[in-house]
Amino acid sequence: MAIRNIVKDGDDILLKTCRPVTVFDAKLAQLLEDMAETMHEADGVGLAGPQVGIRRRVVTIDIGEGVMELVNPEFLEQSGKQECVEGCLSFPGEYGITTRPKHVKVRAQDRHGNTFEFEADDFLANVCCHEFDHLDGIVFKTRAVRMLSPEELENLK
Ligand code: NI
Repeated sequence: MAIRNIVKDGDDILLKTCRPVTVFDAKLAQLLEDMAETMHEADGVGLAGPQVGIRRRVVTIDIGEGVMELVNPEFLEQSGKQECVEGCLSFPGEYGITTRPKHVKVRAQDRHGNTFEFEADDFLANVCCHEFDHLDGIVFKTRAVRMLSPEELENLK
C-alpha cells in the first residue's frame, strides 16, 4: 500500500467529471487500498478518485465503521433534508454549511465488479453526497449555503 498525494484546491481535476470504471483488476484494488490508507492518514472520512489525481468513479468512505469501497456509485433514492457542516481534504481548514438529503439509497460495485446496494442516514448520507459530488466535478464549496467564519471555526475545535 502507499500514501498518495491529495490534490488541493486550484487543481482543475477537482472540477471535471469522472469516467466509469470498466476494468476490475489488480490496479483497481491497489488504487482502492491506497485511497483508504491516504484517507486514514489524513484523518478523513471520505476520499474520491479525483482527489488522488484519478478521473475515475471510485470512492472510499470510513466514518468509523470500517472502510467502504464504492466503485461507480449512484443514488437510487434521496429523501429528507439535513443541515451539515462540511469540510474536504482538498480544502484544508475550510468548512461550510450545506443542505443535504437525510436519507439515501446507493447502488455501487465492489473491487471485483459485483453490484450491491445499501441505505444510509444522517452523517453517512452526508458523506456519500459529498464524495459522489466529487465524481461529477462538484466541490462542497459550490453546495455551501455559506462558509464558516474564523470565529465559528474556533468553536468547532
Ligand atoms: Ni471532499
